[in-house]
Amino acid sequence: MKVLVTGGIGYIGSHTCVELIEAGYDVVVLDNLSNSHPAIIDAIEKITSKRIPLYVGDVRDSDVLDKVFTENEIDSVIHFAALKCVPESVRMPVEYYDCNVGGTISIIKAMKKYGVTKFVFSSSATVYGADNPVPFKEDFPLSATSPYGMTKVAMERILTDTANADENWSVALLRYFNPIGAHKSGLIGDNPQGIPNNLFPYIARVAAGIYPELSVFGNDYNTPDGTGVRDYIHVVDLARGHVAALDYLETHKGAEAINLGAGHGYSVLEVLHAFEKAVGHKLPFKFMPRRAGDIDEMCAHTEKAEKLLSYKTKYGIDEMCEDGWRYTKKFYGIE
Ligand code: NAD
Ligand code: UD1
Repeated sequence: MKVLVTGGIGYIGSHTCVELIEAGYDVVVLDNLSNSHPAIIDAIEKITSKRIPLYVGDVRDSDVLDKVFTENEIDSVIHFAALKCVPESVRMPVEYYDCNVGGTISIIKAMKKYGVTKFVFSSSATVYGADNPVPFKEDFPLSATSPYGMTKVAMERILTDTANADENWSVALLRYFNPIGAHKSGLIGDNPQGIPNNLFPYIARVAAGIYPELSVFGNDYNTPDGTGVRDYIHVVDLARGHVAALDYLETHKGAEAINLGAGHGYSVLEVLHAFEKAVGHKLPFKFMPRRAGDIDEMCAHTEKAEKLLSYKTKYGIDEMCEDGWRYTKKFYGIE
């Protein structure tokens, strides 16, 4: 079974390639290197002893897609390739709609041309917007507070309509909560370019001595300690969810939205303290005003993933921090 993984050498894609190979799948990657490096292919080879073919190109380029689909007998597609920075999407909405929505339409067209009908899509908990109660259930109304979020709502709709229009199609719309951590090898992980927007890579850089302190955005939320609560999921667990989704698509038609989260939330301070435990000492922080657009709490309802995919997360917050710290130390050459 051969899987085309778009954006397959990015953060979540690289971990998913490892899990796919370990589950016996053949993998082909298409990535334009806009947020990744070809050396990740070497790291995946080190972990799995398998070299995967990398096509360097853009998902919006139909010539590249023709090449990938004619040179490989693709059975299914996992589509990670997208732009993902929320504040950047506010500044550059057209680029986000072009890459994310345009890229998805381009892949769907190629799949139709080559008769491929199984699609796993990277959606996000951001599609639940700001007004739903926690835990978020898959049948809640969708909305978005940013152009990035709106691209995810739009792509879910396009894929659902595609599956409704052709009974051969099977689509898993995987709504990720907050992926953090890294592979146990320390060879792949999250290494955002520039100053990280997200909490976990920022804490990791404070621990590595790159930044002096963490800014905790808001301590007056309606949560036990006043800081924002999120459902963090180990990236390897998230990757396992894609293997489970592919297995599910073998025997199920139509489009299904499925949450991938741990079903348990942690506050900013709880994550910071768990990371301190992994590092072995305290990390400096200061309270700052709330970040625009943030909500009190996000948490996944996990029953659907359990029922449809027989899926449960395996790793807790301590492993997320230990593995993330191992990767950070290796990356910065810290003993
Ligand atoms: P990432 O930036 O690390 O990976 C995306 C990969 O896609 C990169 O390797 C990049 O070079 C590639 N890419 C981008 N645009 C492309 C294009 N037009 N053609 C070909 N390749 C392209 O991001 P990630 O964190 O691994 O996220 C993967 C997917 O999961 C994205 O769709 C993202 O929106 C979604 N997601 C991520 C998170 C998160 O917290 N990381 C949460 C929810 C959803
Ligand atoms: C953000 C995105 C979301 C995306 C997700 C994963 C926004 C508004 N939302 O979610 O669309 O799917 O990332 O990529 O950007 N925090 C700090 N200090 C920091 C960074 C974050 O206190 O330096 C806090 C935040 O206020 C929040 C929590 O940490 O309470 C988690 O933040 P973050 O990692 O950015 O994830 P989300 O905001 O959940």
